[in-house]
Order: sequence, then C-alpha cells, then structure tokens
Amino acid sequence: MEKRTFAVVVFCVAWSCVATITVNIPNSLYKVARGDNITIPCSFITTVQPKQAVITWSLGLNAVITYYYPVDETDVTQGYDGRASLDLNFAAGKADLLLKAVTVKDNGKYGCRVQIPRDAQGQPDDTADLIVLVAPSKPICQIQGKAEYGQNINLTCVSEEGSPAPTYKWAGYDAQNNPRAPDPKTTDKGGILSLYNISKDTSGYYLCTSTNEIRSASCNLTLSVMPPSMNIGSTAAIIGGVVAVLVVLVIIIYCCCCRKKNEKEEYAMGVPEDENGIEAVKNGEVHCEVGQENSERRENHEERSERSYDNRKDYDDRRSDCNDRRSDYNDRRSDYNDRRSDYDDRRSDYDDRRSDYDDRRSEYSDRRSDYNDRRRDYDDRRSDYDDRRSDYDDRRNKYGDRRERYDDDRRYEDERRYNDRKDPRSDDKRDKP
Ligand SMILES: *[C@@H]1O[C@H](CO)[C@@H](O)[C@H](O)[C@H]1NC(C)=O
Ligand SMILES: *[C@@H]1O[C@H](CO)[C@@H](O)[C@H](O)[C@H]1NC(C)=O
Ligand SMILES: *[C@@H]1O[C@H](CO)[C@@H](O)[C@H](O)[C@H]1NC(C)=O
Ligand SMILES: *[C@@H]1O[C@H](CO)[C@@H](O)[C@H](O)[C@H]1NC(C)=O
Repeated sequence: MEKRTFAVVVFCVAWSCVATITVNIPNSLYKVARGDNITIPCSFITTVQPKQAVITWSLGLNAVITYYYPVDETDVTQGYDGRASLDLNFAAGKADLLLKAVTVKDNGKYGCRVQIPRDAQGQPDDTADLIVLVAPSKPICQIQGKAEYGQNINLTCVSEEGSPAPTYKWAGYDAQNNPRAPDPKTTDKGGILSLYNISKDTSGYYLCTSTNEIRSASCNLTLSVMPPSMNIGSTAAIIGGVVAVLVVLVIIIYCCCCRKKNEKEEYAMGVPEDENGIEAVKNGEVHCEVGQENSERRENHEERSERSYDNRKDYDDRRSDCNDRRSDYNDRRSDYNDRRSDYDDRRSDYDDRRSDYDDRRSEYSDRRSDYNDRRRDYDDRRSDYDDRRSDYDDRRNKYGDRRERYDDDRRYEDERRYNDRKDPRSDDKRDKP
C-alpha cells in the first residue's frame, strides 16, 4: 500500500497530479456452502480528499447494497433485506460485503465500485465470482431398456441437487461382489452407464457415486439379466401349463383308482360264496352230534333192557335219519366242491388279471391265506368228525356184542321154556318144591 501510494504520488508529480482511484477485490473467485455466511472483501485508494462518495456492490447488473458518503446511509436492495451488509471503514478504504445464509441464487459475478467526484480515472471497480456450493442430493439409479440377453441398456444416475453440478461414476460388481472389469464397449458419461449386448454375466450389483467439491452421495441397483423368453407373459404361460398338466395327472390318477376299486369289488364278490361250502362243513358237525346223542340213548337202553326192542327200532330210525343227513351232507360237500371248482375258475381268471394288478397281490394273498385257514379248519372238523364216527362204530360194535349176548340169553331161555314144555315134570317139580 505504501509503495502504491508512493507510486501514485510520483505519477501525480510527473503528470501534474491527475487524481486516480484504485478498487480491488483480492481474489477473483469465492466459494461458500449453501446456508453459510460469506464475506467478499473490497478495498479502494483515492488520491483526493473526497467530499462525497458512493460505494456500490452489485450482482451482475443488479445492485445489492449501496453506501453514501458522507451521509453514511446504506440502501439494501429488495430481496437482500437482513442478509446483505457492509463491513465498512471509509477512511481506511475498506468496503467488504457480508452475505448471510447464502442460497443458490447468490451464485454469480459480484462487483465492487467506488465513485468519487473528480476522481474517475484509474480503476474504479473490481469483480469476483461467488460460487455457492450445494452437496449432491442422493442420486436416483434406474435401468433404461429391457434387462434381457442381447439387449443394450442404460443405467442412469441423477442427483436432483448439487452445485456445482456433480460428476457421476458407476462401479459394477459381479455375483461374488468382486469389482467388475470394465467392458471396453461400456461407456460412463453424465451419469449414464451404457451396457451393450448384455448377458447373464452382466447381472450383478451396480453402484453410482455422485460427487462435487463438498460431498458425495450414492445409489445402487441390482441388475438381473433374464433370457428373452423369461418375461412376465411367458412365465405366466409356463405356470399355467404346469397347473394344467397337474390337473390332468390328478384326473388320470383318480380314474385309475376308480377302475382298480371296481375290479377289487368284482373280485371280492366271488369269495363270500365259499362260505356256503364252509357252512356245509359246519352242518357236518351237527350230524356228528346226532350220532353222539344216539350213543347216549343207547346207554339208557342197556339199563332198561326190557324196552330194548322199542328203543332199538327208535335207534334204527334215528340211524337211518342220520344216514339221510349224511348223504345230505355229502350232497352239500359235492355242491361245495362244485363251488370250489367254480372258485378255481375265478382264481384262474383272477390270475390273468394279476399281471395287471400286481399291487392287489398282497390283498389277494391275505384272502388266500384266509381261505387256506378256513380249509384247514374244515379239514380239522372233518378229522374230528371221522374220530367221532370211529368212536360211534366202536360203540356200535360193543352194542352188537351185547346184542349177541342178549340174543344168546334169549335163545337159552327159549330152549329152557321149550324143554320145560317137553318135560312137564320139571314144571311139576318146580310147582311142587
Ligand atoms: C451467519 O451469521 C449469523 C449472524 O451474523 C450467525 O448467527 C450464524 O451462525 C452464521 N452462520 C454460520 C454458518 O456461520
Ligand atoms: C442409452 O443412452 C444412449 C446415450 O444417451 C442413448 O443413445 C440410447 O438410446 C440409450 N438407450 C436406451 C435403451 O435408453
Ligand atoms: C452378443 O453376445 C453373444 C455372446 O454373448 C455373441 O454370440 C453375439 O455375437 C453378440 N452380438 C453382438 C451384436 O455383439
Ligand atoms: C443400496 O441402496 C439401498 C437403497 O437405497 C441402501 O439401503 C443400501 O445401503 C445401498 N447399499 C450400498 C452398499 O450402498
């Protein structure tokens, strides 16, 4: 300052002391974050003792604040009320501008002008740029185009706010979250990542970072590239097809089950007829009991030998009755055998069907074993019946023996009676002891 003043003085001396003014803003560029306060300095030098002066700060062509000397009055332009002020020291040549709570609108070229009458020479004003910085807002990541094999798509990334305008950078990560080697064709300009001829390998995680001088912010998206056929429509069609196939399968299975059930019922109807044959076996037991009953009556007969003839006739009647029942029983057995052969026919028929219905085999085996059990039961009863018959025959033999003895006795008595008649003396002897 001293030097400059000296130089002006020298200049003044050299050129008959022509008054000149110098206004200076130290820096050409000032930066401030949005919402902060900023002071833009401005200084001036004049060679005269000014009686009056006007200092003006402007943004572009519009005044922001104006100061009048020596009345010491300040005009603040509308819109800057309370926000703009001067840090002023006229004697020291200081007229700094204070802006509070700057907004994006405060961006621009600011000028500081000092007007002094009769001192218009020199540099009466200076300018500086003010940049109000705005941190980038969280960007929005989007996919443009169809994420299908062979397509070209763009991944876009835009921050709504950011001053100065943010720059964008995309980074790709593969399925294993490893950084993706950039494809030579891929371009990353102005927040648009252009991917060409995408494939399954293009799928992965993509991160976009929006950055300016103040801060950075990021967004991300997961790209899953599908085969062209796998759009929503064809997916729905595939699901529909699968459902239709399932329905058809259910119907087929249901029909098969119905048919098998019918076959089963048809087969089951043939079996209970065998039980008639088994009933015949049970009747055989009844006949045997008739024989046993007869032998019991025989014992009564022995006790009362005088009524033996009547009883014997009765017994013989019962025996013939028993024989009738036995022949009846034999008829039923032959009937049963007929039914068995009938059943065997059905069995062979069933064997033919067996190949078709293997799953019914176990059930059939159960029924067969049941049938065998019944046959064994029947055999047991038959042997039981045979035992009783032999028992009955034994008793008959015994009875025959007794009859013989009885006949012998009778013959002997007849002989005696005959002899008695032949020899009346013996009668006399007896009558007259
Ligand atoms: C700006 O200035 C005002 C008053 O001068 C003060 O209250 C405020 O805290 C300042 N803001 C910042 C960010 O310094
Ligand atoms: C991708 O961006 C480029 C360049 O901005 C543009 O030419 C192209 O049409 C875009 N493609 C899609 C699918 O939006
Ligand atoms: C796209 O990529 C496939 C293999 O992924 C290749 O066969 C085909 O030629 C490519 N198409 C173009 C136009 O580059
Ligand atoms: C990806 O974006 C989601 C949603 O915006 C966010 O919650 C998540 O933290 C982001 N992941 C990374 C690694 O930035």
